[in-house]
Amino acid sequence: MKFLVFFLLLSFSHLSFAADPEKGYDYLVNGGYIGCGIPIDVLKRVEPFLNAVPQSLSGWFNPLFQAPLFKKSEIPGRTGTNANLSHEFNAFVTRRGNEVANFNCLSCHSQRIGNQVIVGLGNSLRDFTYDIRFLLAEIRPFYRTSKEREEGAFFERSLSAISPYIQMHTVGVNPAINLTFALMAHRVPETLAWSDSFLMDPPSKEVPPVHVPPWWRMRKRKTMFYSGEIAGEHRRIMMLASSLCADSVDQVEEMDEAFKDVESYIHSLPPPPYPHSVDSALASRGKGLFLKNCASCHGTYGPNGVYSEKLIPIEIVKTDPALMIQETSKDHDRFIDWGRRSIYYTQETTFHPNQGYIAPALDGIWATAPYLHNGSVPNLEGVLNSSVRPKYWKRSFDSQDYDTIQLGWKYQSVSLWDVFDFLPFEKRFVYDTTLAGYSNQGHDFGDTLSQDERLSVIEYLKLL
Ligand code: HEC
Ligand code: HEC
Repeated sequence: MKFLVFFLLLSFSHLSFAADPEKGYDYLVNGGYIGCGIPIDVLKRVEPFLNAVPQSLSGWFNPLFQAPLFKKSEIPGRTGTNANLSHEFNAFVTRRGNEVANFNCLSCHSQRIGNQVIVGLGNSLRDFTYDIRFLLAEIRPFYRTSKEREEGAFFERSLSAISPYIQMHTVGVNPAINLTFALMAHRVPETLAWSDSFLMDPPSKEVPPVHVPPWWRMRKRKTMFYSGEIAGEHRRIMMLASSLCADSVDQVEEMDEAFKDVESYIHSLPPPPYPHSVDSALASRGKGLFLKNCASCHGTYGPNGVYSEKLIPIEIVKTDPALMIQETSKDHDRFIDWGRRSIYYTQETTFHPNQGYIAPALDGIWATAPYLHNGSVPNLEGVLNSSVRPKYWKRSFDSQDYDTIQLGWKYQSVSLWDVFDFLPFEKRFVYDTTLAGYSNQGHDFGDTLSQDERLSVIEYLKLL
């Protein structure tokens, strides 16, 4: 009997420790979960041309790839070809036996601030304003062998199909949800077989802008996404990133074990500590004000902190409703239905459209500018004082231009006349809060604070 109990305990402890965050990180930064990509040899031929373009123009010429592509990886744990490849790409061998590279999770879920690459931070520097089909055409002349062309065709097929549905008005905001929906419209949910023509209506081309949230929030969450619409099982939803190339169910099943590790890595990731000194007297005054004005929604922090993932109705938070409306509209149902019929949902996945946004845990908030779910406010001062939020603003998109004092991106307000005068190329760098989905309205909870009080709250936020 004693032995039985011992073995039972052993097997349970084995179960609970089965997922390994270290293995999860290794898979995230080296694994082949995207399934197809551009052959490495083709990229090596493209690279010298990228390097020849001045840095200031490389975004114009070729916004997808910021040269240099092949360089010593700036994050730890990269092996093989990945050790000398930009951390936003993973190199791996496909099912067809070709070594390729493609964007990895970190292309959206990591970003540099100053000289430090922060894994898990939402990338607010990536450019989704162009039509990727032009880029594909630019790369085409660099293919040499039929094997390369055959491999590259998978990547081209998916990217060309989704390109019209993932074009944003401004650099830095992300179309990931539309990207996933556009892929769903080309696949049979039960088998994942690809169809060049649409199998259901594609999503709207007007994409609600999303600022990618940081992964370290997941430690405190039971649901996923800004409105908390996904509850229960998260792993398979994360695996939707494979839908770019996975043409069969077994291809997804193969990744399931590895994604248990990925999930445990994401759930164990701590926020990055504030890298400068903090005025502790000012911060402790700020703490009092935070407890009075903010904690009822955002929770409390420190060893006995309590965070309850509160959903705040849209009538109260009053931030831009477009994302929430997309998620709750009838037009969304066909994608949810697709999910339910596919391997990407399990029995435990539940979907609840919600009429509001979750008040996020504010851990590591110093690093996550621009703020609000659509990234419409450049710094924390603006979050806490709605009257100073710029209507049209521009930033350099240089990771060195992060203001670790005000907390947020250094920016320049521009006038409507400037916006008219800008060439289309320059306009992409302007955040225009008058566009549908891009509004900086709402969250006026800091407006009643005095300027001194606001500064002390900001000082306290540096400690979270
Ligand atoms: C094209 C960009 C992109 C890629 C690639 C991407 N994500 Fe995301 N991810 C997003 C966006 C945007 C959101 C927020 C969506 C929302 O809340 O509506 C998100 C949300 C998440 C969340 C939930 C965070 C939260 O606070 O709710 C997790 C976890 C996550 N992604 C994991 C992954 C993993 C793991 C991969 C790779 C397998 C991946 N993502 C690839 C853009 C991306
Ligand atoms: C009534 C609930 C509520 C109160 C009170 C409140 N907030 Fe919020 N807060 C929210 C919600 C909901 C969001 C998400 C809004 C969105 O993204 O559209 C948010 C977003 C934020 C963000 C941006 C997070 C990000 O990553 O973009 C910050 C910073 C913030 N709040 C700080 C504060 C501070 C400081 C206070 C107190 C002065 C405060 N909030 C008071 C509900 C609240």
